[in-house]
Amino acid sequence: MTAKIIDGKAFAAGIRAKVAGHVARLKEENGITPGLAVVLVGEDPASQVYVRSKGKMTVEVGMNSYEHKLDEGVDQGALLALIDRLNNDPEVHGILVQLPLPRHLDADLVINSINPEKDVDGFHISNVGLLGTGQKSMVPCTPLGSLMMLRDHLGSLSGLDAVVIGRSNIVGKPMAQLLLGDSCTVTIAHSRTKDLPVVVRRADIVVAAVGRPEMVPGDWIKPGATVIDVGINRIERDGKKILVGDVEFASASKVAGAITPVPGGVGPMTIACLLANTVTACCRANGLTEPEGLTA
Ligand code: GUN
Repeated sequence: MTAKIIDGKAFAAGIRAKVAGHVARLKEENGITPGLAVVLVGEDPASQVYVRSKGKMTVEVGMNSYEHKLDEGVDQGALLALIDRLNNDPEVHGILVQLPLPRHLDADLVINSINPEKDVDGFHISNVGLLGTGQKSMVPCTPLGSLMMLRDHLGSLSGLDAVVIGRSNIVGKPMAQLLLGDSCTVTIAHSRTKDLPVVVRRADIVVAAVGRPEMVPGDWIKPGATVIDVGINRIERDGKKILVGDVEFASASKVAGAITPVPGGVGPMTIACLLANTVTACCRANGLTEPEGLTA
């Protein structure tokens, strides 16, 4: 069997086009321009790349982008004061604090100081609780994008066996909640899971989010399963620097029914869903009907 390749780049472009349409309508009919504020502390090169890319795409879909770059050594009080200002700014509908933060800052405290309705990352404890209890919330972007691709490929997920490998707060745990919300039977596997190959082989849906290059080989995959590879790992092969996922693509794509490639799979969906969340937050803040198909 040769797997269908799920084209995240094209899917994400479709989401951004939908977002752009909603933004244009909000401007025309309501005189509102959605705004996304991104806070970056320090000079981490990967974070700078992400933030630049977020800013560019925010503007491309017609929204306002506000970037706040703070020195590596900024004190917590100053960062909290900035978040308080953004919380109270009616032009700002979404706030994202780029992670990781320098170690002298309390990331949990910082994230939980964001107004939950503007928390477009879905990391605030209140959004985590709302998602876990099946209530309307802001949903973390990478799991939301992964869910959209699964629904698009499979239709109903009801009754399917899903394995999420990885238990992070950013991907693994919210992904499991979303799959449960769609009536999957969900297993969360992690570094201490016994007989991981056996657990993975049972699954109709495999979401790999561990951050270990190519740790899931093709012979762990049940024939015909749908594989979502969240990993983005930089490695060197044959003297060249390349990106690989958490799944060994060459072998897995011979067994799976469908698979996301790396790059070009889940990656582009994350920013597209961030923009979708910002439009959703803007509509909710203004008591307007929120766009269909852009939330869980
Ligand atoms: N750093 C890496 N990914 C993310 C993300 O999705 N959100 C935030 N805030 N920081 C990140």
